[in-house]
Parts: sequence; C-alpha cells; structure tokens
Amino acid sequence: MRIAVAGKGGAGKTTICATAARLMARSGRRVVAIDGDTNPNLHAAIGVDAADVAPFLSPSLVSRRFDGPRLAAPVDEVLDQHSAPAPDGVRLVRMGMPQHADEGCMCSAHATVSAFLADLGAASGTVALLDLEASPEHLSRGTARHSDVLLLVAEPYYRSLEAVRLQASLAAETSISRVAVVANKCRQPSDFDAIEEYCDRHGLELAGSVPWSEAVLDADAESRPLLDHTPGDAVVAKLDELFGALLAGSQVEVKA
Ligand SMILES: Nc1ncnc2c1ncn2[C@@H]1O[C@H](COP(=O)(O)OP(=O)(O)OP(=O)(O)O)[C@@H](O)[C@H]1O
Ligand SMILES: [Mg+2]
Repeated sequence: MRIAVAGKGGAGKTTICATAARLMARSGRRVVAIDGDTNPNLHAAIGVDAADVAPFLSPSLVSRRFDGPRLAAPVDEVLDQHSAPAPDGVRLVRMGMPQHADEGCMCSAHATVSAFLADLGAASGTVALLDLEASPEHLSRGTARHSDVLLLVAEPYYRSLEAVRLQASLAAETSISRVAVVANKCRQPSDFDAIEEYCDRHGLELAGSVPWSEAVLDADAESRPLLDHTPGDAVVAKLDELFGALLAGSQVEVKA
C-alpha cells in the first residue's frame, strides 16, 4: 500500500510520516519512507543522521514511456542504491532538492518520485509512505498520483482546513482512490469538533485525529524522533491505531 501525506505548511506531515513508518515496520511490514519535500527533513524526524543519507533519487533513473514516467531499472535495484537504513528496518529514500540558485523548476524530481512510487506498487507487501511538501503543486505535477491513499493533515484553524479542501478537490481529479483528512494538534474537544464539522460540511472523509503533545515539540527541540524521545506518547498510540486501521482497510473511531 502507498500512502501519501499532504497538508498546509507545518501541519505535522513529517512528524506523522516518520512516526507511522517506524510503527508499521515494527509490526513486521517492509516499509519505504520517501521524503518528497524539496526541503528534505524526514531523515531527522525518523532518526537518520544527515551524514548517513543515501544519494537523492536522480531524474536519470526515469524512462518516459507511453503510459507515463517509470523507472528504467528494477525498483529493488533503485532501492538498494538510493535508500538509507533507518531505525526499525525502514528504508529512507529522498527526492532531489535544488543544488544551485536559479537552476529552474523541480519538475523532474517530482516525476522521479512518481515513477518510483508507480514501480513500488508492483512490489507486493511493501508499505510506502510519502511525505509531501506543503505546496499543492504535488497535485498538479502528479507526484503522488500512484498512491492508494492520500492523507490530508489539518490543524484546527480555518486556513489549514481551506488548504486541505483545495488539495482534496484537486485530488478528486486524480485516480487516487481514497482521500481522507487527519486532524492534528487537537488540544481540546472543540478543536476536533471544528475539524469534524468542516469535513461534514464539505463532504471530506475524516480518518482519524491526533492530539496536541508537548512531547512532539520537546523531541524536535532535541532533534530526536518522537518514538525514541517519548515512545509512550498519546500521539504514538493514535498513529499506531490510525495506520493499523488504514492498512487493514478498516475505520477507526475518530473522536479525539
Ligand atoms: N501533534 C502535535 N503536537 C504538537 N506539535 C506538533 C504535533 N505535530 C507536529 N507538531 C509540531 O509542528 C511543527 C511542524 O511539524 P512537521 O515538521 O511535522 O510539519 P510539516 O507539515 O511536515 O511541515 P512542512 O510543511 O514544513 O513540511 C513541528 O514543530 C512539530 O514538532
Ligand atoms: Mg514536512
């Protein structure tokens, strides 16, 4: 299963991807975490040192075929050469980032992630988690078009919800079969209620909710993954429940 995670800037995409990837790997799954942000930082949240990352996915890996960009080499070969081992057995892959000022757009980097995700779909039993950047351009560029699920992370404030609504409407024009909202940083029941009411009003599926936690901020301040800093945190428990249900194809009780 391929799960892409999007949402407004700072909504919690990277925290959720990093923590969920390790939790799913702990449950025995083969997990590939993909940093799909041209300002990459998934490695820090997952627990890989900047010195230990693998080479970026290179646009030269892509062959353009009649049915869209796909990898020129077998996906396992690309994984071997472009992934770094992360804690709990996760393999970490990264999209390219700008190397120089004025070098132009990053379209080919996005196309490479798209091709990689397409070919990963054929690797049965693999769970891929794609951490996207905040801009909705990943939808116009088709970065996550081969995802099975697109999660849109929303914070309990209007502009965050509006960003999610925009991305959901663009995603409805793609072949991604399930698009669902995850409420994050809910400090009190009214936060969750506001997100739930917004989702109901706009016909958006609400897949789950994650509480606000000081431990997430403390872990960031120490540059440590949440799972290593506070393994028993409520955020960890909620993500375990949410992603377990996603993989099982079932619903969770979303009440905060
Ligand atoms: N449940 C939470 N409780 C408290 N703080 C949180 C929670 N989730 C994320 N944060 C904090 O929010 C900030 C942004 O988190 P994160 O980097 O995961 O967001 P992002 O959506 O990936 O951001 P960007 O758009 O820059 O990629 C960080 O300081 C993180 O510690
Ligand atoms: Mg991020």
